[in-house]
Amino acid sequence: MHRNWLHFCPLTINPATTDKAMTELNLDQKQDQKAEQKEAFEAWTADLQARMENVLDAHIPSADTLPTKLHEAMRYSVLGGGKRVRALLAYAAGEFCGAELATIDLPAASVELIHAFSLVHDDMPCMDDDELRRGKLSTHKKYGDAIALLVGDALQSLAFQLISQDKLLKNATQKLQMLHVLALASGSRGMAGGQAIDLESIGIPLTREELEQMHIHKTGALIRAAALLGAYSSHNANEDKIKAIDHFAKAIGLAFQVVDDILDAEADTQTLGKTAGKDAQHNKSTYVTILGLSAAKQLASELHANAMAALSYYGREADLLRQLAHFIMHRSF
Ligand code: IPE
Ligand code: IPE
Ligand code: MG
Ligand code: MG
Ligand code: MG
Repeated sequence: MHRNWLHFCPLTINPATTDKAMTELNLDQKQDQKAEQKEAFEAWTADLQARMENVLDAHIPSADTLPTKLHEAMRYSVLGGGKRVRALLAYAAGEFCGAELATIDLPAASVELIHAFSLVHDDMPCMDDDELRRGKLSTHKKYGDAIALLVGDALQSLAFQLISQDKLLKNATQKLQMLHVLALASGSRGMAGGQAIDLESIGIPLTREELEQMHIHKTGALIRAAALLGAYSSHNANEDKIKAIDHFAKAIGLAFQVVDDILDAEADTQTLGKTAGKDAQHNKSTYVTILGLSAAKQLASELHANAMAALSYYGREADLLRQLAHFIMHRSF
């Protein structure tokens, strides 16, 4: 709401009143600006989430393509849910580096596919044994363990296929760089490695350093890859910008899992769309169990500040990344 304070301001200038009125004006203007920015960010988010849904829909084989059950289960696992944070991060980082939106589509989709694969396997009885994901039955509950395993395998391959066949990425070196980043982030030195540490440590309290290593790998690596893939979608990304994005994504990637640990302890199943309290139930080491809730929240906000500091040199062109970081910190699921 914009208040026209001139109507209330006497014509004879009283410095005290004017100062007060100016402060009110500034506050009002700032609030208006903030509300506008929030609205614009929400519109951007909704727009790109829908765009990602379409890209994924177009690139996962239809449910009547043989083998139908596998394709149906792949579509079930990927489409119609998820916040698409990794894709949004790729788009924001790509725009920051001057990439065309269309050039970011497939690299962003590839990270979402790896992420969806990691969720399908993470929910299986041999891992976290969760029957709920994104507000519906987890893949193995709906299709059985064997299909869930294959869904993970096939989504992983599809992710690499999408980058390799991307016609908008004309430069083979650029593709190779992306494939390398995504492979590292998904494998034993990235997500899969972090998941292995997670499973090995059930019932064994980790040190803070070990916990950080686990989180950086199981979740941080893929978030970092999403941002880098976005940046590499630009044909001439500036080196300093790439460094800033990398620093930003490392910090916000770790913060993401700290917040996930907090939500697991504080939120309810319906809001989360996955079973709340799973970490405690499974005797997992998390930032909440190791540090306690309030220190975990403190750490999350320090990591957020660290991510913001990585962008401090930049002006409005980094606003989407800043807003995305805010979204990651304040999300409810
Ligand atoms: C959940 O990730 C799993 C973690 C790595 C913590 P998200 O919270 O991004 O899950 P979706 O994609 O929105 O469902
Ligand atoms: C999972 O961490 C990270 C992945 C690589 C999937 P969590 O096990 O905490 O994720 P949620 O809470 O089940 O989504
Ligand atoms: Mg897990
Ligand atoms: Mg889990
Ligand atoms: Mg969790």
